[in-house]
Amino acid sequence: MKTIKTISFFTTFSFLSFTAQACDLSKAETLWNKCVICHMNSADGAVLVGPNLFGIMGREVASVDAFFYSFEMESYGDFWTPELLNKFLENPMQEVPGTTMAFAGFSQAEDRENIICYLQEYAK
Ligand code: HEC
Repeated sequence: MKTIKTISFFTTFSFLSFTAQACDLSKAETLWNKCVICHMNSADGAVLVGPNLFGIMGREVASVDAFFYSFEMESYGDFWTPELLNKFLENPMQEVPGTTMAFAGFSQAEDRENIICYLQEYAK
C-alpha cells in the first residue's frame, strides 16, 4: 500500500513539473487556433472533424464514443500522458501512420509543450 502511494505521488509530481515549465498561455492560444478547425475542448463539446479533446490528459486513447476513429489510432496506445502527446504532436501522420488527423505537427519542442499545457489546463 505504501509503495503504491509513493508511486502515485511521483507520477503526479512529474506531471505538475512538466506543465509548470511549459505554460505560456498567449502562445498556447495561438497554437490552439490550428486545432479549432477540427477539435473542440469543452465539457459539452461536440465532435467536429476530430473528437472533443476536453479532459484529454489521462484519457484513454481513442475513447470518445461519438467519434469514429481510424483503426491505427485505436491501436496506438493506452492513455494520453504529456509524454505520449509530445510524441504524437511532433508529427501525427508519421507517429500514427494511417491516422485521419491531417495535421503536420509541431516540430518545435516549445510549441508542443505549450499546446500540451493548454490542453491540460484550459477548456474553451
Ligand atoms: C484537419 C483536422 C485536424 C486538425 C487540424 C487537428 N486534428 Fe487532432 N484529430 C483529428 C482527427 C480526424 C482525429 C482522429 C484521428 C484518427 O482516428 O486517426 C484527431 C485526433 C486527435 C487526438 C487523439 C484524440 C483521442 O480521443 O484519442 C489528439 C490528442 C489530437 N487530435 C490533438 C490535436 C491537436 C492538439 C491539434 C492542433 C495542434 C489537432 N489535433 C489538429 C483531426 C484534426
